[in-house]
Amino acid sequence: MSDDNSVTSTEYKLETDSELRFEIENKNEKVTITLLSGHAELFGTELVVKKSYEFGVGAKVAIFTYHGCTLELRGKPDVAYVARETPMVQYLNANSALEQLRSKAEQDDLQGPVAMVVGPTDVGKTTLCRIFLNYAVRLGRRPIYVDLDVGQGGIAIPGAIGALLVERPAPAVEGFSQQAPLVYHFGHMTPSDNGVLYNVLISKLAETTLERLQANKRAKHSGMIINTCGWVKGGGYKHILHAVKAFEVNAVFVLDQERLYNELLRDVDRSVQVIFMPKSGGIVVRTRSQRAEARDNRIREYFYGSKMPLYPHSFDVKFSDVKIFKIGSPPLPDSCLPLGMKKEDNFTKLVAVQLGPHLLHHILAVSFADGSGENVIQSNVTGFICVTDVNMEKEVLTVLSPQPRPLPQSVLLLSDLQFMDSL
Ligand SMILES: Nc1ncnc2c1ncn2[C@@H]1O[C@H](COP(=O)(O)OP(=O)(O)OP(=O)(O)O)[C@@H](O)[C@H]1O
Ligand SMILES: [Mg+2]
Repeated sequence: MSDDNSVTSTEYKLETDSELRFEIENKNEKVTITLLSGHAELFGTELVVKKSYEFGVGAKVAIFTYHGCTLELRGKPDVAYVARETPMVQYLNANSALEQLRSKAEQDDLQGPVAMVVGPTDVGKTTLCRIFLNYAVRLGRRPIYVDLDVGQGGIAIPGAIGALLVERPAPAVEGFSQQAPLVYHFGHMTPSDNGVLYNVLISKLAETTLERLQANKRAKHSGMIINTCGWVKGGGYKHILHAVKAFEVNAVFVLDQERLYNELLRDVDRSVQVIFMPKSGGIVVRTRSQRAEARDNRIREYFYGSKMPLYPHSFDVKFSDVKIFKIGSPPLPDSCLPLGMKKEDNFTKLVAVQLGPHLLHHILAVSFADGSGENVIQSNVTGFICVTDVNMEKEVLTVLSPQPRPLPQSVLLLSDLQFMDSL
């Protein structure tokens, strides 16, 4: 085709331990990468020779080679360059250390290492988790991935935390497959919106995943990789310490920040290893709006898929068929607290929500709970729906759902997060 002739094609010869980095900011631009010879990997996923990988807007990618390779790049990314300074060898060494612990665990039939990645925003925490997980499965391991970052929500949707058994490397262009993740609803974009609830959910997720780890021998020996959010000061730091305890973490990898590294060395139990890791020079700091956009894309992907399109369902739900709650009510002054109630209790209180137009565009979590009180907060969720219309006359909500009707459960939990369904 004549169009094809106008596509710019560049060949890059990469030496040992170097990477090709590129970024796409233009909505209409597509970049295709083909490995012509040698070995290369994208955040731990091996590329197949001669296969083309396509990337669209928002891609910030590094293709790394341990032994040299030739890559063809077609298209016009906003930035593209080869970097020879990368922390990949350190990441590989860290993985080897984890792998030794896994082998030992396998020999003695004990639990494998629980590793956590922490650091400020935009240092490559999610990427390092992905690299660790990919390397682990490539070696035949089946680790559990835990994501505590409610801001980006890699498992399920922003506003939730969850865990996932990783059985194969992530496809180069998408994330890990989302089969049957274990998900808990938090309902806010940042832990600070309800720190008490966040800790309760971390404890619950930890308890459940540690239990599940015991139920599957291969997972048990493989251990866990835990991703966290970039809030590392004050309250955020306390959440990290809480998670280290709750998940019985053995190793904390601290990306980029020496202060955080030293604080952790001082504060965690001696049995926990704290390891400093440099960040990659390829990471570009994201603006607030880029972050919001990434969050929005993540929700869109949940309903519509990314590369493999999904077709969500839209249907009506009668007001009388559901009960909507939110978790947490504004704190009461001490003098108004009912006898025997602590101030913190308000943060984990189940509050009935009136059905009305205010629900429009909101995300609702579909709880596994049957609605009988207490257990709702600590129940995991089957999935998420989005309210696309509220009809007060007919008393129905129209919802967007990844599953066809009917809703599997009637207890819904209101999230702060909103999504405008513009497709
Ligand atoms: N070596 C690299 N070269 C180029 N881009 C990279 C490299 N490593 C990671 N990135 C990109 O940098 C961005 C930020 O990385 P990542 O999401 O892992 O950081 P993070 O610390 O998890 O951020 P957040 O605080 O938002 O959770 C991502 O788009 C990622 O694809
Ligand atoms: Mg992240």
